[in-house]
Amino acid sequence: MTVSTRVAIDPFGADIVAESARLRSQGAVVPVELPGGIPAWAPTGYDTLKRLILDPQVSKDPRKHWALFPKVLETPEWSWILGWVGVVNMLSTYGSDHTRLRRLVAPSFTARRTEAMRARVEAITAELLADVAEAGADGSVVDVKATFAHPLPMRMICELFGVPDHLHEATAALIAAIMDTSDPTPEHAAWVQEQIGAVLGGLIAYKAQNPGDDMTTELIRVRDEDGDRLGDEELLYTLLLVIGAGFETTVNLIGNAVVALLSHPEQLAAVRAGEVSWDQVIDEVLRVHPSIASLPLRFAVTDVEVDGALIPAGDAILTTYAAAGNDPAHYGETAATFDATRAADDHMAFGIGVHRCIGAPLARMEAITALPALFDRYPDLALAVEPGELKQVPSFIAYGWQEIPVRLHG
Ligand code: HEM
Repeated sequence: MTVSTRVAIDPFGADIVAESARLRSQGAVVPVELPGGIPAWAPTGYDTLKRLILDPQVSKDPRKHWALFPKVLETPEWSWILGWVGVVNMLSTYGSDHTRLRRLVAPSFTARRTEAMRARVEAITAELLADVAEAGADGSVVDVKATFAHPLPMRMICELFGVPDHLHEATAALIAAIMDTSDPTPEHAAWVQEQIGAVLGGLIAYKAQNPGDDMTTELIRVRDEDGDRLGDEELLYTLLLVIGAGFETTVNLIGNAVVALLSHPEQLAAVRAGEVSWDQVIDEVLRVHPSIASLPLRFAVTDVEVDGALIPAGDAILTTYAAAGNDPAHYGETAATFDATRAADDHMAFGIGVHRCIGAPLARMEAITALPALFDRYPDLALAVEPGELKQVPSFIAYGWQEIPVRLHG
């Protein structure tokens, strides 16, 4: 397949649902081009994506299985993708390396361990709602993302990993920059790489001097006592993954839910009347607007045949969660419509298989704490702009709103 016949993925992610519908009209698996001209294959439907994720001949390790990986290392226009595939952690490993790295962190996020965090999430929610009240006291427009949806998961993950206050802002800026695919320049990529060292290297240095009852301290201990289980680079990139994935995705889950409910007052009324549960709302938001719209990258270990398409060994595959969630063949003709009554809890927004999200219980618990608290406190909450005026974050990976301006009292 020549590059000229590939479909360019919009680096701004301006209309991810329309883009996935266009791709779907071209077949089950479509050759696409990521920013900078990186070639990949995009599955466009639920069943095809599921088959590919679960196929043991599909890997997440670019070093072992991506034919173009050496070229990425010497092509400045492609260097932006190193923030995703150049890192060494459970997200970019395969087989026993993946199992080893996942085991170090996953036990801290079981449903039971997550339940023990609920009281802190409730306390932070209450504090933030007081801040929101202050910001909107005189009838002012409040950005409910900046004041509420963002700081809640951010503060929780920073507490779990012992991230000191002086690193919070830089951590948030770093993760936002990794998610931003609209500026795939070598300069942006170099800044990201430098910040990974400065911010997370800074965190490791700080916790080595100031150990505490937190997960960073625990991971440093494992590295120091048992380097076979966790090397230096793996420590750095595991922190990047779990801290980054641990808040940015949940920020957008909460934000997307707020916007969906405020844009569909009849559904908010059904939730208030107890006809629709908050769990249904959360699943529907994840299905139709998954916080990770698509994730770079997976790789064909051998030639992989799926739904009439052949993905040659060594080629890259985009993991297209938004396309799967909006697939009419699976969810019917109204697939792209937010409808919390449909109870579609088979979405793949948290992934499936061996790479399934370890933070799903935490994300769900944070959302189910935050959303009722916000809507109970502000029964007349309203968007301060038309839904059509809201802007997506500039990313084909992250799916969320840049700002969510609201009025607290209608
Ligand atoms: C709404 C919130 C979230 C969404 C939508 C989400 C989504 C995902 C998805 C789709 C994957 C699978 C990636 C793949 O198949 O390659 C994943 C993996 C992962 N998530 Fe989440 N996530 C969320 C919250 C969290 C939280 C709160 C944490 C941290 C505690 C977290 C940590 C991880 C980690 C470490 C992995 C990698 C697992 C592996 O590769 O074995 N995520 N997440």
